Amino acid sequence: MTDDTGTNVTTSNDERTHAEELAIVLNGLRRPVKRIATKYHYDEHGSRLFEQITELDEYYLTRTERALLERWMPAWVADLEPRTLVELGAGSAEKSRIILDAMVSAGCGEAYVPVDVSADFLGKTTDTLRAEYPGLEIVPEVADIKEPLDLVIGLPHPRWVAFLGSTLGNFDGVEASRLLGRIAARLHDGDRFLLGVDLRPGPKKSIERVEAAYNDPKGVTQRFSLNILAVVNHEFGSDFDLDRFVHRSRYNVAEGRIETELVSLTNQVVHFPGDHRIVLQKGEPIRTEISSKYDRTTIDGLFEGAGLVVDRWIEDDEGLYALVLSGPAA
Ligand code: AVJ
Repeated sequence: MTDDTGTNVTTSNDERTHAEELAIVLNGLRRPVKRIATKYHYDEHGSRLFEQITELDEYYLTRTERALLERWMPAWVADLEPRTLVELGAGSAEKSRIILDAMVSAGCGEAYVPVDVSADFLGKTTDTLRAEYPGLEIVPEVADIKEPLDLVIGLPHPRWVAFLGSTLGNFDGVEASRLLGRIAARLHDGDRFLLGVDLRPGPKKSIERVEAAYNDPKGVTQRFSLNILAVVNHEFGSDFDLDRFVHRSRYNVAEGRIETELVSLTNQVVHFPGDHRIVLQKGEPIRTEISSKYDRTTIDGLFEGAGLVVDRWIEDDEGLYALVLSGPAA
């Protein structure tokens, strides 16, 4: 699988050699519009910076999603009685606890499958959860959500597959369709897919509100963005100078997404081992992330292609964020 969009959350690096990874990074930096794959944001420091982003006043996504989960999960879970929860990109399973608590309260919860690329993180999360939920079978899966998911054979239905945090937004249209199609293919009758998505600007939500979430005045987002260069330096031995770039996030109305770039402050040459040189002009951007925003129409379109049908759609009062519950198309 090639990484030609530069916006991937994760890819199957397991099977790739370091030299192949380097070749992909260099290819991205030699395109007419330079790009670095989004997954390189998330070393330990980058993950900590993202945690800090979620606590910023401007970054409404995480807290709005949590409030929606707290408000709706008890009723939805009591109604549909899922026995297994599969969470894609589980991380520390912070949000899953809200769903798991509802499953325990409703008396239907039997198993939880946190899926994450980071085995380390997953191991810690699993230990904690086993202590917290002695009645649940915790079955961690180290997997890349972009790869085929052969999950949870033997765990009881109905199952819910949750993909929260608006992480879908980091995928371009083609990647998102592929992922949703694979999820849909694994759902049985009565199973559900729970998706959390950030909404497009509309009557209640301004473009400024969206852009502010990616341009906080404390500069946490800028540090998060620049960290991608530090990760690439560390992984590949390049010499990006973080002081010679500035973070820029703007909402693209036509595409319905935030586009984040690192803009070169000077004419400069960046070196990679093997005598590879990347030439940047002053003002030239490197694309590092897209954060797509959705509405009912764009979700219906994506879902229709994937074989999913929305059965519940809920937004907060300010029209910022949505939880979407869907099932396999008949
Ligand atoms: C974790 C992908 C949902 O795109 O909003 C936050 C990452 N980047 N600020 C997002 C992010 C800059 C975040 N997601």
